[in-house]
Amino acid sequence: MRITMIGSGYVGLVSGACLADFGHEVCCLDKDAGKIERLLAGKMPIYEPGLEELVGRNVQAQRLRFTTDLAEGVQGADAVFIAVGTPSRRGDGHADLSYVYAAAREIGKAITGYTVVVTKSTVPVGTGDEVERIIREVNPGAQFGVVSNPEFLREGAAIDDFKRPDRIVIGSEDERATEVMRQVYRPLYLNAAPILVTGRRTAELIKYAGNAFLATKITFINEIADLCEKVGADVQDVSRGIGLDNRIGSKFLHAGPGYGGSCFPKDTLALLKTSQDHDAPQRIVESVVAVNDNRKRAMGRKIIHAMGGEVRGKTVAVLGLTFKPNTDDMRDSPAITVIQTLQDAGARIKAYDPEGMEQARPMLPDIEYCQGPYQAIEGADALAIVTEWDAFRALDLGRVKSLLNEPVLVDLRNIYNPHEVEAAGFAYTGVGRR
Ligand code: UDX
Repeated sequence: MRITMIGSGYVGLVSGACLADFGHEVCCLDKDAGKIERLLAGKMPIYEPGLEELVGRNVQAQRLRFTTDLAEGVQGADAVFIAVGTPSRRGDGHADLSYVYAAAREIGKAITGYTVVVTKSTVPVGTGDEVERIIREVNPGAQFGVVSNPEFLREGAAIDDFKRPDRIVIGSEDERATEVMRQVYRPLYLNAAPILVTGRRTAELIKYAGNAFLATKITFINEIADLCEKVGADVQDVSRGIGLDNRIGSKFLHAGPGYGGSCFPKDTLALLKTSQDHDAPQRIVESVVAVNDNRKRAMGRKIIHAMGGEVRGKTVAVLGLTFKPNTDDMRDSPAITVIQTLQDAGARIKAYDPEGMEQARPMLPDIEYCQGPYQAIEGADALAIVTEWDAFRALDLGRVKSLLNEPVLVDLRNIYNPHEVEAAGFAYTGVGRR
């Protein structure tokens, strides 16, 4: 199959490289000539484990190519995926669809022969209808089908998520287009990934409902963690205790500083907008968004409390800045608000993150960036672990204690055993633990 990806960002690049790896002929497009040039030179625009090798291997095998020439990339393609950004629109938080619609217009002008146009970007319900309308408007004679095929890729595990998905969702109103999509994913469903074919609007909603549900699960356990602290219970055990019930499931029940990243914050907000537009309020999701927003500042206050309630003139060592490990992505990272809360209270910050410091610098200019965890810890009055990178899981506690002015450890990801840390002479504060 000949497949074209419009947009060589996170989703387009990972999906394109994986589809090429399955033997399809893939062309990844981007308007940004610099990005395409760097990709041609083997440099990845994002940090994602395994991606550089995957791209290199498929470029070498001539199954994967890059271009800025949309018309050339789209002509003769069996399927054209729209994988451009849908950021939150400034002002009202709804998804900004201008890039999607611009892509639809360009595709409409360029298609030759029957082409399936696939929205891979996360788009509100009804976007597929509009993409179809635009293509028909710019090219009334075009033969095409528009399908929705949402992605469920987690940053840091995106290649594995693509190759071993829990399910593939195809929203289609057109039998011929569905058949093309089955061919695109044939290598995957031969590996037993279930394909769910639904209406197009249903597929669009599945993506939002899925992310909102996961955000709800995280927020639920975070509030239970707060209750645990008040009543002397342990949220890790509560999670295990409820998660072993198959109806609940054990994943996404890890209490922490609140969810962040490129998807959950933006998608929950966009779902709320859609629900308002259609007069079907989503009160649970409204609460989730509000509770998660409040939580980030509360986590800053938690650190202040652990340091005796006063941090003016004191220094906090922050380990982990990205919204989760194995990514360089700082978008909506809880660390931003946690650090700002500490700075507002007069604290100085020394920080280290294995991949996120470059992206963090413009967002958090007034902190001291360090070369490694121990450099950040040296001379600080407390250590706060904000993101659970593996490199922070087995710190030499003796060394940490000797480098800190005060043996205070705040573990916002519950990666340490409180008894061990206390036995090593620290005052330990976790999330939802006694
Ligand atoms: C998410 C979805 O998982 C993915 O299916 C979708 O396509 C894009 O959004 P991602 O944003 O990469 O992926 O990260 P994910 O691993 O889901 O974590 C999101 C946030 O939730 C992170 O801030 C993480 O720290 C937090 N989280 C996750 C928790 O606090 N507790 C958990 O138990 C799980």
